[in-house]
Amino acid sequence: MQALVYNGPGQKKLQDRAKPAVQMPGDAIVRVTRTTICGTDLHILKGDVATCAPGTTLGHEGVGIVDSVGPGVTTFKAGDRVLISCISSCGRCEPCRKGLYSHCTTGGWILGHRIDGTQAEFVRIPHADTSLYPIPEGADEEALVMLSDILPTGFECGVLNGKVQPGCSVAIVGAGPIGLAALLTAQFYAPAEIIMIDLDDNRLAVGKRFGATATINSAAGDAAAQVMKLTGGRGVDAAIEAVGIPATFTLCEAIVAAGGTIANVGVHGVGVELHLERLWSHNVTITTRLVDTVSIPMLLKTVQSKRIDVRQLITHRYRLDQIVAAYDTFSRAADTKALKVIIEA
Ligand SMILES: NC(=O)c1ccc[n+]([C@@H]2O[C@H](COP(=O)([O-])OP(=O)(O)OC[C@H]3O[C@@H](n4cnc5c(N)ncnc54)[C@H](O)[C@@H]3O)[C@@H](O)[C@H]2O)c1
Ligand SMILES: [Zn+2]
Ligand SMILES: [Zn+2]
Repeated sequence: MQALVYNGPGQKKLQDRAKPAVQMPGDAIVRVTRTTICGTDLHILKGDVATCAPGTTLGHEGVGIVDSVGPGVTTFKAGDRVLISCISSCGRCEPCRKGLYSHCTTGGWILGHRIDGTQAEFVRIPHADTSLYPIPEGADEEALVMLSDILPTGFECGVLNGKVQPGCSVAIVGAGPIGLAALLTAQFYAPAEIIMIDLDDNRLAVGKRFGATATINSAAGDAAAQVMKLTGGRGVDAAIEAVGIPATFTLCEAIVAAGGTIANVGVHGVGVELHLERLWSHNVTITTRLVDTVSIPMLLKTVQSKRIDVRQLITHRYRLDQIVAAYDTFSRAADTKALKVIIEA
C-alpha cells in the first residue's frame, strides 16, 4: 500500500509499505478514505519532534472503513464507517479513567508519531473500541475529518481551558486551523468580543467571516496596544495562544485582563519568559493541555445539527498519490490560502 513516510528532518516520501496487520486483540485495521495534514506534521518534518522516528508513516487525522478487527474489539466490525481520534486511549488506565486520554499509559498521541499514522491506505488503530467513533448514517464524512484533532483541540485546549463565558472578551492569537476552530467553538458560549490576531491578512479575513468581532495584524508590533484600546484598557478575559512561539505567548501575557486566563494551545519548542513581575497581582490562570478528544461525541452532534459549519475550514482536495503536492500547498499557506487540505484515498 501507499504511505507517506517521514524519513528524518526535511525528508518525506510516498512509499510502498506493507499493509498493517492486527498486533493486539484490541486493534482494528481501518481503510483510510480521507485524511488531512496538521501543523504538527510540519513540526515533525522540521525535526521539532524528536520522539518521531524516521520510517514512521505520518498523519493522525481521518475517517475510514473498518477492514478487520482483533478478537478483543466488541464495538466495531468490518465495514463500519469510523472517525479516527488523533488520541488513542485504552479507557481503563488511571489517566483514562480521569478523562485524560492524551496521557493514556498505552496510548495518547501515538498515531503518526510513535506508530504509523493515517496518511496511508490503511492504518492500525490500537484500543479501537475507545479510539474510534461510529460515523452516523448520511454524515458529511469530509467535514468529520475536522473532528479528529483540530475541533477538539481548539475547543478543549482553547475554549474550555480559557473559560469562555457569555459576555466575556476573547483574543485568539493565531488564525490557523486550530485558532479558527477555537473561534468557531467559542461562539457556543456567546462571548461579547472575539479578537483574532495573526500576521496573515487572508486568515484574518477568514476569521472575520467565521465570527470574529475584530481582527489585528500583529506585524506592526502594536497588537497589545490595539487589544487594550478595543477593551477599554482592561485586556481580555481569555487569551488563547494558538501559534506556539515565545512572541505569541508573551503577547497573551500582555493582553490578559485581571482575573482572566491564558489558555495555551500551541506546541512550544523553546522556553518562554514568564512575566510574573506584572502577573503576580493579576489573579490570572495559565493553562496548558494536550488535546484529550473527550469532546468528539459532543462536537459530532453540533456538526450533525449544523450548529457549526466545519466544512468551511476545507480549502483544497488531493488524492493520496498527490500528497507531496498537498504538503507543499499546506506549508505555503500565506501564498496558497490553504487552511485544511483533504486527502482522499
Ligand atoms: N495542544 C495540543 O494538543 C495541540 C494539538 C494540535 C495542534 N497544536 C498546536 O497548535 C498550534 C496551531 O496549530 P495550527 O495547525 O493552527 O498551525 P498553523 O501553523 O497553521 O497556524 C499558526 C498561525 O499562527 C500565525 N502566526 C505565526 N507567527 C505569528 C505571530 N508572531 N503573531 C501572530 N500570529 C502568528 C500564522 O500566520 C498561522 O496562521 C501549533 O503550534 C500546533 O502544533 C496543539
Ligand atoms: Zn494535529
Ligand atoms: Zn489508558
